[in-house]
Amino acid sequence: MSAVSSRLPVFPWDKLEPYKATAAAHPDGIVDLSVGTPVDPVPALIQRALVEAADSPGYPTVWGTPALRDALTGWVERRLGARGVTHANVLPVVGSKELVAWLPTQLGLGAGDRVAFPRLAYPTYEVGARLCGAEPVPYDDPTQLDPAGLKLLWLNSPSNPTGAVLAPEELTRIVAWAREHGVLLFSDECYLELGWEAEPVSVLHPDVCGGSYDGIVAVHSLSKRSNLAGYRAAFLAGDQAVLGELLKIRKHGGMMTPAPVQAATVAALGDDTHVREQRERYAARRSALRAALEAHGFRIDHSEASLYLWSTRDEPCWDTVAHLAELGILVAPGDFYGPAGERHVRVALTATDERVEAAVKRLG
Ligand SMILES: Cc1ncc(COP(=O)(O)O)c(C=O)c1O
Repeated sequence: MSAVSSRLPVFPWDKLEPYKATAAAHPDGIVDLSVGTPVDPVPALIQRALVEAADSPGYPTVWGTPALRDALTGWVERRLGARGVTHANVLPVVGSKELVAWLPTQLGLGAGDRVAFPRLAYPTYEVGARLCGAEPVPYDDPTQLDPAGLKLLWLNSPSNPTGAVLAPEELTRIVAWAREHGVLLFSDECYLELGWEAEPVSVLHPDVCGGSYDGIVAVHSLSKRSNLAGYRAAFLAGDQAVLGELLKIRKHGGMMTPAPVQAATVAALGDDTHVREQRERYAARRSALRAALEAHGFRIDHSEASLYLWSTRDEPCWDTVAHLAELGILVAPGDFYGPAGERHVRVALTATDERVEAAVKRLG
């Protein structure tokens, strides 16, 4: 048996365990700002929709209920400014991580194909390439890539881990380049609702894509905007030929979003109030942590958007991790996101107000 896992990188979070133990030994307990996992409640209207759909004995469909597809197309038009979006332009997925990891396989990529992603990135883009035997290619500027054999190009704006946002002109330039070279472009926009000093724009905006979805697909997740990481709710929007092919494959593979989660997604996408409230929580935590880190001698780079402060003391990231662990604060080392992150740490805004206040006090 050839172990597929041998193609994959070592699961990095295990390396953080000793620092977690140090931070947990703090007399006032750990402040865990390492994993970006939501901690605030699932909004009541979403919980209600889930419960009301609890009696769902039959199989759900991969494409989702018509009500879900209406909610997806409606949101994509209303929130992203896209036009003429039909049911054929949307596809629910079971949280976006499975999609990122299995997309190259589901597209039929393999040895000899190349999959490109930002040099500093969410590690699952590389995992997806490795799972199917394609070559992972990190980039600084995607338009400088050699298009030969390049079958899939990932964008991620706002970025995990840096919080950087691609300006609309930049997106337009990249979309044009990808189309010119016949490279399929997937844009992971799961932090789009979390712009602070920049207004993130989707690749589906007509100013960027010219009103055509040919060769482009946007990936959206409800994990962060609606505190639904535990529900596994996400979706794709864009090129109908690509989504039609993925739908066929995912039907055979049984990649179905559970019916109660589909109902919860409809409720979540129909409501902006909870998104605004959640943004306000993160904005307050962000200003408190940012000020405290800067006063403690950190420089914050990028971080115009998303759930992270990309922070540095101009020293190796593991020294910073160790220093903060002594204060009972756990953060993610920048090299989890690629060697280019070796002098930064990623500080997540996903802790309760009480824990953020404790971190601010300890940094003071
Ligand atoms: C850039 C990026 N994409 C995708 C995901 C996956 O999110 P989910 O599977 O919860 O939709 C994450 C999670 O942190 C992420 O940071």
